[in-house]
Amino acid sequence: MAGRGEIPRSLFSTALEGIVPYEAGKPVEEVQRELGIERVVKLASNEGPYGPFPAALEAINGAAEELNRYPDGGAYRLRAGLAERHDVAFEEVITGAGADGLIDCLSQVFLDRGDEIVCGWPSFVSYVIDARKLGATPRLVPLRDHRYDLEAMLAAIGPRTKLAYVCLPNNPTGTMSTRAELDAWFEHVPEHVVTVVDQAYFEYIDDPDYADAVQEHFKQGRNVVVLRTFSKIYGLAGLRVGYAVAPAAVVTEISKVRRAFDVSTPAQEAALASLADVDELRRRRDLNATGRAELERVLREHGLEPVEGAVANFVLVELGEDSRPFEERLLREGVIVRPTHGFGAPEAIRVTVGTPDELRFLSEALGRVATTVA
Ligand SMILES: Cc1ncc(COP(=O)(O)O)c(C=O)c1O
Repeated sequence: MAGRGEIPRSLFSTALEGIVPYEAGKPVEEVQRELGIERVVKLASNEGPYGPFPAALEAINGAAEELNRYPDGGAYRLRAGLAERHDVAFEEVITGAGADGLIDCLSQVFLDRGDEIVCGWPSFVSYVIDARKLGATPRLVPLRDHRYDLEAMLAAIGPRTKLAYVCLPNNPTGTMSTRAELDAWFEHVPEHVVTVVDQAYFEYIDDPDYADAVQEHFKQGRNVVVLRTFSKIYGLAGLRVGYAVAPAAVVTEISKVRRAFDVSTPAQEAALASLADVDELRRRRDLNATGRAELERVLREHGLEPVEGAVANFVLVELGEDSRPFEERLLREGVIVRPTHGFGAPEAIRVTVGTPDELRFLSEALGRVATTVA
């Protein structure tokens, strides 16, 4: 674009050099438009495959008429509902624009230039991007057998480490650390480190060895922040609402850095309405468990081996070579899966559990693409 301002590189924050922007899953409409195909199934972003809960839809419609008003910046009713749900103080709950928005806030709250974070790798890339953009250094600790290696993470903690992320279960591998592993972590993690237990997929998991970090660690007075979201099982990813249970002092600091109206009124109302419907929650958890088993079966049937031990609504498949060509081939068949280069796994794809009909569509698509890789 000739004639437009040329901004000298030196004006941009040096912390941003080398940061690769978050690569989201491709939108369905974009693929339909670009490839001229009618049916496109998206299994790329770990969204719930079903819409919002019925009560949430009603709440959204109700809130629509008042959209001329700013939201309640303090999200009073939602925070109160969450505090009651978890039996913690109102001052120990804060909402945000998804768990992702809260990771951004936590980074701002804790990290100065030169500070460090520790997390497993491959893992959720926002931990890394949000630290880097503040000039902090991420220490990336390789997974062991596709699982977080909490012992190695302890060894990676240094004097400048302030935040340690435990992605539970880990995105993109879908695997979890056990209760005993998490207990051992909290026994040994030094006082100067705050642990962020990211439980974005918490509600999907029924493994008896899976810890509830609010009950088992936050309430024991650990230096821990627990993240949860309405984007996954509750089907509200498009509205952007999540929350943290955290020590009151952390909530106070987050209140200083967050955007004043970061959670819209429909998002607050829909989240609150969703909380009440425990039957629908259970139904979706069961559907997902069946769907995940079916997804794993379909993948194996076509010669693909999903990483073992997945407990949420997605699985990772290692292909043994750059996964983009395979992703492209599936795309042309109308299925969007996620190449995981940004998460540190360039030879893998991540596939989200869909509806039974979507899984059939995936199976047919896999049948048409050569699965001779790996
Ligand atoms: C581990 C993990 N944390 C956080 C998020 C962010 O979720 P949201 O911002 O939609 O609440 C995701 C989403 O994919 C995730 O996988």
